[in-house]
Amino acid sequence: MTSDPVRLGVAGLGRGFVLMIPSFRADPRVTLVAAAAPRQESRDAFEAEFGGTGHASVEALCADDQVEAIYVATPHQMHADHVCAALEAGKHVLVDKPLSVTMEDADRMVAAAEASGRHLIVGPSHSFDPPVELAARMIESGEFGKLRMIQALNYTDFLYRPRRPEELRTEEGGGILFSQAIHQIDLVRRLAGGMGTRLTAMTGAWDPARPTEGAFSALLGFASGAFATLTYSGYAHFDSDIWMDDVGELGQQKDPAAYGRARRALEGLDPEAEAKLKQTRTYGSGGEVEATRNEHFGPVIALCDRADLRLTPDGVEVFGDTGRRFVEAPFGPAPRRIVLDALVNAVRHDIAPPQTGAWGRASLEICHAILSSAATGQPVDLQRQCGIA
Ligand SMILES: NC(=O)c1ccc[n+]([C@@H]2O[C@H](COP(=O)([O-])OP(=O)(O)OC[C@H]3O[C@@H](n4cnc5c(N)ncnc54)[C@H](O)[C@@H]3O)[C@@H](O)[C@H]2O)c1
Repeated sequence: MTSDPVRLGVAGLGRGFVLMIPSFRADPRVTLVAAAAPRQESRDAFEAEFGGTGHASVEALCADDQVEAIYVATPHQMHADHVCAALEAGKHVLVDKPLSVTMEDADRMVAAAEASGRHLIVGPSHSFDPPVELAARMIESGEFGKLRMIQALNYTDFLYRPRRPEELRTEEGGGILFSQAIHQIDLVRRLAGGMGTRLTAMTGAWDPARPTEGAFSALLGFASGAFATLTYSGYAHFDSDIWMDDVGELGQQKDPAAYGRARRALEGLDPEAEAKLKQTRTYGSGGEVEATRNEHFGPVIALCDRADLRLTPDGVEVFGDTGRRFVEAPFGPAPRRIVLDALVNAVRHDIAPPQTGAWGRASLEICHAILSSAATGQPVDLQRQCGIA
């Protein structure tokens, strides 16, 4: 047991929080001492399970002396206000991806972190997945020569999972770019060292009933000369988890008999009924996922001079010049152990992970560049990138 666990408060007890719970339960280095949620049922459920204080507002959570760091898991468009309030109250912050929706908010958040002297970490995102971390370290070691090219692809039913209405409006952070592309951008940047240079992209918004971007492809260059292709479809009929041993994004074993379940569940629902359905996946309503393998974000291959590295839910398969081998990325004990490593290292040892506020802003810049390139048909030169400190 850890004698001095990080005392964490949580802002927003929704789906994002539900997905972190197994990791909080499994990791004694962090203890949940308070939360902020508008709904009384959520606050009651939190107090019953964790024994901390349920506050009715983020302001009250920020004023709670028991809390030394805050995990912000409220909707995207609220991140900026909640993160700045937490930093100004002297708390360290872990904010779920994306950092924010607008670049102006991102600037405000990075400035607030600098002014406060507190750490701002953007996560979880799939850049923290153990196989991504392992592959990044293998590439950094130089063992296989230079990284030359990355291919990342993911086909999911994202657009047909139950949504709040604003999650289907691009200008409020809806669609696949701010919720899903951001993962892929983050993990590709983690592998390539972070410094994107230029991007060309096309997007698709093909379902008039859900009129936001559901798919994109992008070609992204890096300062090292490496380049990456990123392709995502949230309209998928083909599920690319089939190429990941039928392991889902959250490390859960998938049931092939569940084919088409997301679209079936939405049949005949109006937006209000759909938002209610989303609430059945929120805290206090069940909807937890049992991971047995590492999380992933679809097939990823990193091509280096002397090997191709294929990421799997269990580690990295190395296809070298004359031989193949598999390097395991151990699972657990907390499924999102590396996210909590980052939090504990920041709060207890003043060591920042790669995924700082400036890092999150650089990934967000690429989301906007994808939209801009798709709208104009022109490449976009990136201006706000950062490397790994
Ligand atoms: N990294 C991941 O795997 C992952 C997965 C899901 C969601 N998320 C992130 O979590 C964030 C929330 O999305 P979600 O899907 O959980 O949405 P959600 O609607 O399920 O949860 C949002 C929660 O915030 C609460 N909330 C709203 N206003 C609030 C306020 N003023 N103060 C405190 N709480 C407030 C709501 O009551 C709700 O419980 C998003 O930024 C999303 O990107 C991340």
